[in-house]
Amino acid sequence: FSLQPYNTFGVEAKARYFTEVNTIDELKEALIFSKNQSLQLLFLGGGSNILLTKDFDGLAIRLNLKGITAESINENEVLVTAKAGENWHEFVMYCLQQNFGGLENLSLIPGNVGTSPMQNIGAYGTEIKDVFVSCKVLDLENPEVRTFNLEQCKFGYRDSIFKQEGKGRYVILEVTFKLTRKDHSIKTEYGAIQSELENLGIENPTIQDISKAVINIRQSKLPDPKEIGNAGSFFKNPTIPLAQFEDLKQKFENIQGYPNGDMVKVPAGWLIEQCGWKGKQIGNVASHKLQSLVIINATGNATGKEIFDFSTEIINSVKEKFGIELEREVNII
Ligand code: EPU
Repeated sequence: FSLQPYNTFGVEAKARYFTEVNTIDELKEALIFSKNQSLQLLFLGGGSNILLTKDFDGLAIRLNLKGITAESINENEVLVTAKAGENWHEFVMYCLQQNFGGLENLSLIPGNVGTSPMQNIGAYGTEIKDVFVSCKVLDLENPEVRTFNLEQCKFGYRDSIFKQEGKGRYVILEVTFKLTRKDHSIKTEYGAIQSELENLGIENPTIQDISKAVINIRQSKLPDPKEIGNAGSFFKNPTIPLAQFEDLKQKFENIQGYPNGDMVKVPAGWLIEQCGWKGKQIGNVASHKLQSLVIINATGNATGKEIFDFSTEIINSVKEKFGIELEREVNII
C-alpha cells in the first residue's frame, strides 16, 4: 500500500497494511489486528513531520477522528476541543470565525490537531503550550483512554513527553485548548509580524489581522507542501552555551542569537545558509531558496533516503564550520 499521499514530502514508501480509522472503536479493532498478527504500528496524522526512508513492514493507521466542540467557561473564556484528525489550519480558521483568540499566530501550520502536542508546535511568538489544557490519549500498553494535562505533557521547545519517554506508547485522540472570547492577548513581538502589519497599514490588529499577517509571511517564504514536497523546518534551532556563542561571535560577527539564561538559541537557517546550502540542489533534493531550514523534494521524485542523506551532509558541514551539531526536527521512519 503506497504511503505517498500520506506524507507531505511526497516520497514513495509502502506499508504492508494500511487502514483509516474514524472512531475509537475502529482504532481498537485495528490494534487487535496488529496484536494478533504481531505487526509494528505507524500512526499517520497530517504526514507533515515525517520522513519515510524505507518501506514499512507493519500496519500504518491513519487517524481520521473528526469533530470540534466548544464550551464557555465564562464571558471571556472558552474550552475548545478538537479531535485528532481535524486539519490544524482549518481548526484555527474555525476558531477565528467564532472570534476565539489564542491560536492566530499558529495559522497555516501544516498537519493535524492530533500531532500538534507531539512537538508543541510553535511559530511567531506562540507555542500550543500557551493555550493547551489537556489531551486525551489511548495508552497502547494497556489499552485505555487517559487524559494528560499541561504539566504531564512536559512541553519544551519542539518537544513533549510524546517524543521522549512516551514515544510510541500513546495515540493522541483529541486536544482541548483554553481560548479567549473578547479580551484577546494580541502577540506582535515577533519582528516579522510587526513589519507585515505595517505593510498592511494596520495599527490596532485584531486576532484575524494577526492571522492574515502570519499567513502572508508564511506564504512569502515557506513552500506549500501541495506544490513542493517538504516538512517545514527540517532541523531544530540549536541551543548552545553563551561562552561558545561568544567565541563564535569573534569569528562570525554577523551570527544571530536569542539569549535564554546562560544558553543562546541560534537560527539554524542562518548557519545552513552560511555553509552555502541555501537554494542548493543535489539530485532531486534541495534546500529551499527562501528559507534554508526547509528541505524540499525539488523534482517530486526524491526518495526518503536521498532526503535523509542530504540532511546528513548539511549536519556535517554546519558541524565542521561552526562546531554545532544540528538535530533533526522531522521524525525519521
Ligand atoms: N535565516 C537566515 N537564512 C535562512 C533562514 C533564516 O539567515 O535561510 C535567519 C533569518 O534571517 C532570521 C532567523 O534566521 O533572522 C530566523 O528565521 P525565521 O524567522 O524564518 O524563523 P526560523 O527560526 O528559521 C522558526 C521555526 C518555524 C517558525 C518560525 C517563525 C524552528 C525549527 N522553526 O524558524 O517553524 O515558523 O520560527 O516563528 O523553530 C516548522 O517548525 O516547521 C516551522 C516552519
